[in-house]
Amino acid sequence: MKRLLIATGGGDCPGLNAVIRAIVHRASQEKEWEVLGSIQAFNGVLWEPTEIVELDNKKVAGIHFQGGTILETTNKGGPFAWPVKNKDGSWSTVDMSDEMIRKLQYMHIDAVINIGGDGSQSISQKLYEKGLNIVGVPKTIDNDLSATDSTFGFQTAVQIATEAVDKLVTTAASHNRVFMLEVMGRNAGWIALNAAVAGGAEVCLIPEFPYDIQKVKEALEKRFHYNRGFAVVVVAEGAHRQGGELVYQENDEPGYRNKQLGGIARQLMKELREAGFEHDMRETVLGHLQRGGVPIAYDRVLSAQFGVKAFEMVLNGEFGKMVAYRHPDFISVPFKKAITRPNLVTANNALVKTAEGLGISLGL
Ligand code: F6P
Repeated sequence: MKRLLIATGGGDCPGLNAVIRAIVHRASQEKEWEVLGSIQAFNGVLWEPTEIVELDNKKVAGIHFQGGTILETTNKGGPFAWPVKNKDGSWSTVDMSDEMIRKLQYMHIDAVINIGGDGSQSISQKLYEKGLNIVGVPKTIDNDLSATDSTFGFQTAVQIATEAVDKLVTTAASHNRVFMLEVMGRNAGWIALNAAVAGGAEVCLIPEFPYDIQKVKEALEKRFHYNRGFAVVVVAEGAHRQGGELVYQENDEPGYRNKQLGGIARQLMKELREAGFEHDMRETVLGHLQRGGVPIAYDRVLSAQFGVKAFEMVLNGEFGKMVAYRHPDFISVPFKKAITRPNLVTANNALVKTAEGLGISLGL
């Protein structure tokens, strides 16, 4: 028998379970393969005792419409930066990658499929360089990987954000208020831009286009006649004003290396007030609601296609690569190429033109 190990790493994302199910179903058609899963990314391999589960068709039955990941995940640490507590209570990291590869050999693992975003695929590349037979599946609600046309989970996040705009419109109209809806996306404005267009927001602020607060104020004031009117602003968590800085919280969880973005909606209200905007304002931070719950059909289909293709890459010995969607095909892209350039919104993007055509202010 040959053994495949699946790991899910980074933030969770609707569709992860559908990818796991697709891999297991496809593998079950090849009689000589058995599939295992590592709990919490590669922690399941590194922990003592290890936490590895067997995955078969029965185990993955019905999981394609469940949010989260049955294998659990983490966006802290990893085999190259394993957090260890020092005697004085502080934390440092050690490289456990050689130890992990030794353990995988001991477990007779022939191949690994790592489902994760750019951070996880950087780990995949480094493990591949150390000789591991590894294939990647791209995952992120942010849709910020340039190697693939889209990532699963993104459309579900857009759907959730759009439903939030729809809901805010009615309360904003009833109270003659401006609502700031803060959405995720890290340094990419895709969720915000899509939700603003789909939901009919008046203003959309994204990280790629630092905004001019005067322009935002003018766009909002146009929506009011005396004290009557309302508006919805969709603001991406990574947005900031021209000359301004990212808004984020310090995070002291051991092994957490990201900036924990959040707070731009409140900051924006402050900036508008200081600029002389007089109408009532409220904020809604959508947060992790965008990552939870049932994946929409589009994401389940994309997940299934990624999962089947990833296993076929294993069968063909196409290691050191990540599956990618390039309409209408599913292709494989070397990790190195997949992680070098992020997919960010550009001024000449068709959706930017559409937003402008609809009269959505980008604060410019
Ligand atoms: O990358 C996905 C994402 O959801 C970002 O949009 C967000 O900034 C981040 O993860 C939040 O991650 P955490 O799980 O650390 O709160």
